[in-house]
Amino acid sequence: MKGLKRSHLCGMVDETLIGQKVTVMGWVQRRRDLGQLIFIALRDRSGIVQAVADQNTAAEVFEKAERIRSEYVVAITGTVAAREEANINPAMKTGKVEILAEEVRIFSESETPPFPVEENIQTKDDIRLKYRYVDLRRPDMFRNLYLRHQVAQVVRQFLNEEGFLEIETPMLGKSTPEGARDYLVPSRVHPGSFYALPQSPQLFKQLLMVSGMDRYYQLAKCFRDEDLRADRQPEFTQIDMELSFVDQEDILDLNERLIQKVFKEVLNVDVQVPFERMTYAEGMERFGSDKPDLRFGMELKNISDVVRGTDFVVFKNALENGGSVRAINAEGCGHFPRKQIDALVEFVKTYQAKGLAWIVVNDDGSIKSQIAKFFTEEKMAEIVSAMGAKPGDLILICADKDKVVFDALGALRCELARKLELTKPDEYRFLWITEFPMLEWDEEENRFVAVHHPFTMPMEEDIPLLDTDPGKVRAKAYDMVLNGVELGGGSIRIHRSDIQNKMFELLGFTPEQAYEQFRFLLDAFQYGVPPHGGLAFGFDRMVMLMTGASSIRDVIAFPKVKDASCPMTEAPGTVEQKQLDELGIAVVAQETEETAE
Ligand code: AMO
Ligand code: AMP
Repeated sequence: MKGLKRSHLCGMVDETLIGQKVTVMGWVQRRRDLGQLIFIALRDRSGIVQAVADQNTAAEVFEKAERIRSEYVVAITGTVAAREEANINPAMKTGKVEILAEEVRIFSESETPPFPVEENIQTKDDIRLKYRYVDLRRPDMFRNLYLRHQVAQVVRQFLNEEGFLEIETPMLGKSTPEGARDYLVPSRVHPGSFYALPQSPQLFKQLLMVSGMDRYYQLAKCFRDEDLRADRQPEFTQIDMELSFVDQEDILDLNERLIQKVFKEVLNVDVQVPFERMTYAEGMERFGSDKPDLRFGMELKNISDVVRGTDFVVFKNALENGGSVRAINAEGCGHFPRKQIDALVEFVKTYQAKGLAWIVVNDDGSIKSQIAKFFTEEKMAEIVSAMGAKPGDLILICADKDKVVFDALGALRCELARKLELTKPDEYRFLWITEFPMLEWDEEENRFVAVHHPFTMPMEEDIPLLDTDPGKVRAKAYDMVLNGVELGGGSIRIHRSDIQNKMFELLGFTPEQAYEQFRFLLDAFQYGVPPHGGLAFGFDRMVMLMTGASSIRDVIAFPKVKDASCPMTEAPGTVEQKQLDELGIAVVAQETEETAE
């Protein structure tokens, strides 16, 4: 810097500084050259300020200004002056002033940037991520990362004040039973052995409770080798916490207050507590989802009893196979052209539904439906009335196993809301989902699997069902849902070995297998374990919803793309043979038709 000091950030130069000398530093947003007059818009993370060089500028300084191009990194020293009336830009904080350049220093030059450094660009994600360092110069990206930083600050402050300790847990560990695939790290010292990167700090945080740490939190990196979506990354961050000597109510209350404080301090949004609550069963029944978006209606209705005993084989088969017939009323959508309805039919097929029947209630109250021929007029009227449909409405019906019906109609109602633009960007509908089922029958593996994880406590009144009807046992587990996104989840943990052993048995572990996999936890529980429970938020998801970003990629500095690669660093990559030899690893080419030959 050779003694040159910045006096102000670009975005801070305003009319209060008129007449003062300032030095600003940053990237050139653009240079407009009018021959005898050069305008330079200079940008740093705080904003943009305009500098001018003209006949009054020393010749050598003017020459430097002429050389400057977009994204050059420069320092400009000059006196702040009021802009002429005609040049005032009321949209900019710095729009009333400009800096009359007296000195210009060029720190570095730049290639033409791969895309404009501006908000709301249309550039493809792959290109943005390849040049992420340029992408992050865009003001919306800075705002996202800044908000992320603020949320982290408020979360830490809140939890510190509530008596939590921030404690780090290992990245190199053994696999935790969270259900996704692990990322493995080979051990050089123990050839053939692997560490697993944590899917979450679950077991360690429970051990910290055994250690008497009482209240723990961590902004924890988690790794899950699963298929990416808009709200999923292979590497993401949790706001992870665990508390001793508490019950579910204490954890829900604490986290409502945490959210309330975060939204107030960062967005100045007042969140009402306590949050609405809904059992898992009610969420499924009314919304076909365990993370219902409450910003719009179109609730599911079970019309099995209305259509039972009719001859339409699709409905009949579903009911005979223990399934159900359910429907939603898309109010005012009766005018949808046939093509649009067909698109909805195709949409539900991606959720394994075999079809979607529809009934249009015409403006004159008459009915149009491709299934009308299977029903009497009275029966059709009964369906319409059961759905509370009015002239101009569209009834969409799905018949199948409950799981398929819930998935299909649950997703369909969100799809319709998107199409009809039923949601406002700044509406936040928080919700707790409680009483999750403890176990879920896995058809493929032909055994029960834990819905949350194997350390989750059953609800007191359901403990006897562990022996008689384990599929019916509800857990002391809860999810926080915001606008249809699972923001976080947790549970009260099992601290009684009899119940824990029962759980392992139900999950199909022999006592030996359970001990083999969770030895350290089971051993630790022999040395005095407090009742405890916790929760983890998806930090990236929280920031995504608070910024209005459409993907968590936009709130992570260096995210991965869909195939879990990084276009910038080109990770994952191959490694030197020497590294593989040291690790005792041989890479075997995958057999394709070509190599087989
Ligand atoms: P769970 O698996 O529900 O619980 O994860 C907690 C929260 O983490 C977020 N999340 C993700 N975010 C981005 N990308 C992903 N791939 C991803 N996977 C999960 C979600 C989710 O709600 N140990 C337990 C918590 C506990 O019981 O205390 C756990 O990890 O927002
Ligand atoms: P089909 O007799 O198979 O031609 O079906 C008659 C109508 O019922 C078609 O319009 C299908 O879209 C609809 N349909 C098919 N399967 C289902 C289902 N599982 N649930 C609701 N409607 C369905």
